[in-house]
Amino acid sequence: MDYTTLGRTGLKVSVMGLGCGGPSRIGQATGNTEEESIAIIKHGLNSSINFIDTAEFYRTEKIVGKGIEGFNREDLVLSTKKSTWGSIKPDKVIKSLERSLKNLGTDYIDIYHLHGVILQDYDNLYSEVVPTLLEMRDQGKIRFLGITERFNVDPQHTMLQRALKDDIWDVMMVGFNILNQSARERIFLATMEKKIGILIMFAVRLAFSRPIRLKQCIDELIQNKQINPSVIDKEDPLGFLIHNKGVESVVDAAYRFCNYEPGTHVILSGTGNLDHLKENIKIMQKPPLPKEDVIKLKEIFRNVDSITGE
Ligand SMILES: NC(=O)c1ccc[n+]([C@@H]2O[C@H](COP(=O)([O-])OP(=O)(O)OC[C@H]3O[C@@H](n4cnc5c(N)ncnc54)[C@H](OP(=O)(O)O)[C@@H]3O)[C@@H](O)[C@H]2O)c1
Repeated sequence: MDYTTLGRTGLKVSVMGLGCGGPSRIGQATGNTEEESIAIIKHGLNSSINFIDTAEFYRTEKIVGKGIEGFNREDLVLSTKKSTWGSIKPDKVIKSLERSLKNLGTDYIDIYHLHGVILQDYDNLYSEVVPTLLEMRDQGKIRFLGITERFNVDPQHTMLQRALKDDIWDVMMVGFNILNQSARERIFLATMEKKIGILIMFAVRLAFSRPIRLKQCIDELIQNKQINPSVIDKEDPLGFLIHNKGVESVVDAAYRFCNYEPGTHVILSGTGNLDHLKENIKIMQKPPLPKEDVIKLKEIFRNVDSITGE
């Protein structure tokens, strides 16, 4: 597993991070027992992944706490989040953080995010909640501040573009994948300059793990004129990537495409399936996609900013 430096945090992180939310919630949404989900975490950590992302909202923090038992805390980078929907006041943030610390069985969080922020809420959260986060950081309970977008309702990244104007965020979690590459110009150019650490979500999601969903997305993009139907095979839209020097599967293409995108640091992979985890770990160790395939993917999807692959 390759390691990289997470921007200005200086943290050494594995390029693959274990995502404990998404459609699988490490299997808690797909029928795993708690033991099976713990086994996923332990397998990831034993395979050199050192980055784990969870959130109070996912209800997987306690499982992560059990999964990391027996590992050296200093070797791990833990990322968790405060939900930002409903009313959030400073006292609630303090309580949430204390609960997250207890659930995870640790006395500090490496990256504490405001979760799923939308543009309309940003200014209020900034003035009401950020001062408390800074106090918590001064107390050593948080090492770095992060913010995540609500990609499904903001596939154009309007909130993160606003957040980039405040020099407070050390880490941002961004929706980016083969279908919606709009973060390249709108987010990564600036984050590379500011040395903000970038975590990628939605690399695979549903569009790249369920062929039927990919076809639906392509149909939608043709209908709203974001892709040109003459440049894509509607029946097998990404089939051209599978060849001798290419990838073995669409999932393979989806993770590698993100892994080698300049400006990205950690590609989050969410799964409740141990075989998928093993496969994804192998994928993340493979080289970039062939140059001509990347060029073609950039060309086909260059105007897309309306879809997430959910
Ligand atoms: N706004 C936010 O802050 C926000 C929003 C979304 C996500 N996130 C974070 O980002 C993480 C990553 O997002 P994600 O969970 O959507 O991850 P993802 O890796 O993009 O996609 C996960 C989906 O792909 C499937 N999958 C994974 N590997 C596979 C394989 N080898 N073959 C076939 N299917 C495969 C999973 O099902 P199986 O379980 O069957 O493998 C699951 O349905 C989340 O877990 C969460 O930590 C944050």
